[in-house]
Parts: sequence; C-alpha cells; structure tokens
Amino acid sequence: MTAQTPIIELRNVCKSFGPIDVLHGISLKVHAGEVLCLLGDNGAGKSTLIKTLAGVHRPTSGEILMDGAPVTFTGPRDAQDRGIATVHQFGGTFPLMSIGRSFFVGVEPTKGWGPFKVFDRRKANEIAVRAVREFGITRIDDGDRLVGGLSGGERQSLAIARAVHFGARVLILDEPTAALGVKQAAHVLRIVNEAKRRGLAVILITHQVMHAMAVGDHFAVLIRGAIAADFRKGERTREEITDLMAGGETMADLEAAIEGHMATQEGHPPTPAELRPA
Ligand SMILES: Nc1ncnc2c1ncn2[C@@H]1O[C@H](COP(=O)(O)OP(=O)(O)OP(=O)(O)O)[C@@H](O)[C@H]1O
Ligand SMILES: [Mg+2]
Repeated sequence: MTAQTPIIELRNVCKSFGPIDVLHGISLKVHAGEVLCLLGDNGAGKSTLIKTLAGVHRPTSGEILMDGAPVTFTGPRDAQDRGIATVHQFGGTFPLMSIGRSFFVGVEPTKGWGPFKVFDRRKANEIAVRAVREFGITRIDDGDRLVGGLSGGERQSLAIARAVHFGARVLILDEPTAALGVKQAAHVLRIVNEAKRRGLAVILITHQVMHAMAVGDHFAVLIRGAIAADFRKGERTREEITDLMAGGETMADLEAAIEGHMATQEGHPPTPAELRPA
C-alpha cells in the first residue's frame, strides 16, 4: 500500500501570513484508499494546511505533488478541477435549495452534465437521489426536498456523495462530525469509510479522538504549525493520541490548569463540604 505513489504529497511546506509563520516545514503523504486524520489543538494550523492543499492559500515555500508531479494551484477551482474536494462543517450546502438543485450548483453544464442546457429538475433529482442512495443514505428519496430539512449528518453525507459523484480523488473534511450527535456522527463516519472503499484519499480533521480512531489509517498531529507526530493505526494508544491532540499536554496538566483556574476564580478550589448539596 505505502509503496505506491501518493495521490498527494507535501514536501517541506511553509505558510506565513505577512510576519506570522503558521506552517513550518510540513511533509505528508496521502494515499488512495486511506484516511489521514489531521489532529491538533485549536490554532495548530489544521485549517491553514488543508486550505493550502485546496488551492485557497499558496505555500510560502515548499512543494505540493499530485501523483508524484509538482503542482501549483492557481485557486480553489483549479484544485477542484484536479479532484480535490473540500466539505466544510454543515456540508456547505444551501438550506433553501432542493436536494437536486444543490447537487448541481457550481457544476458547469458543459462539464458535468452534457446535453441539457436548461436545468432539468426531474433528471437532476434522479441523479442526486441515486448518488446519495449509493452511499447508503436511503432516507433521502425525494430530490425536491429542501436541503434545510435534512439532518446535519444527512447534509454532510449529501455533500460527500456529491464530491464523489463529480470525480473527487481527494476528499478533505474539516470537522465533519463537530456538531453531530453520536448516531449522526457514526453515519458520517460510515460514509467516510465508503469513500475510502471507493479508493479516494480522505483527509479528516477532527477534535474527537474516537472518531479519528474509528476511521483513520494514518494520523498526523500538528502542534504550533509543525508535525509533532506522524503514525499509523495501532501504533499509539488512545491516551497517547488524546495527549498529543491537546498540544502535548497530558490529562494531569489539564487537571492542574483547572484547579489553578478555580483557585484564581474563587480564592481556592472548592472543598468537598462546599460541593455537597445543602
Ligand atoms: N489569513 C490569516 N492571516 C493571519 N493569520 C492567520 C490566517 N489564517 C490563520 N491564521 C492563524 O494561523 C493559526 C492557525 O489557524 P488555523 O485556523 O489553521 O488553526 P486550526 O488548527 O484549524 O484551529 P481550529 O481547531 O480552532 O479550527 C492561528 O493562529 C490563526 O490565527
Ligand atoms: Mg480549523
């Protein structure tokens, strides 16, 4: 598996915004049929990294390679045309649009869907519903339904199915399960697995260690814009991953910080007597 050429590779990528250095010498490989989980505390640089991969930002230095050849993205559209799809939290879809309509937003008629120049509602609905049902989302059976009426998990799933339908090879998911309950998150993670089964490379950002461990083949932890750890499934325990995700702080550090905070708020941490209900 790892012997094959990665779909995407970053070599020593740095990104600065003016005087602010956000990413420092990032090197990473993402293979087809694998899920890379990108982990790290708030502000570690995860979103900046995927925006660089998605053509939103240009690297300040370093290289991005696709299928082994260096590429320069002129913008997000360029990255999209090369098969890099980004799905944002809440699916990035339009609540007041029908499922069929939203499925084809931004797809130029000449590129994606041949002969018909006018929007063919029935046909669009049919294609959209079939595409999402192929992903096992059988509850979506009417393309006229509004996207706003779907659950958060269904919207994410719709967005992922759409990206795959239009030929994405790399699927970037920035915290797709952040606002979801357990069942909905499980649903999205199943779709992630399905995308992987179809041979896509998936880059998943999450703050939830269980979600990462449920689908990840490969894990990279960012701390202050640099790769602090890069390991494969089974090489670290859940506790080790949790500590790494917290920017290298351990649970003991966290408990100490909470104690310290309470001490400054209240003068001292509450005693057991104070915590007992009256
Ligand atoms: N356009 C920008 N200009 C200046 N600084 C930026 C810009 N974009 C991001 N940063 C800074 O880069 C750092 C990393 O931000 P980024 O959004 O990539 O973090 P993140 O890991 O995605 O965090 P979170 O988990 O909170 O989403 C932050 O300190 C942020 O303020
Ligand atoms: Mg982010």
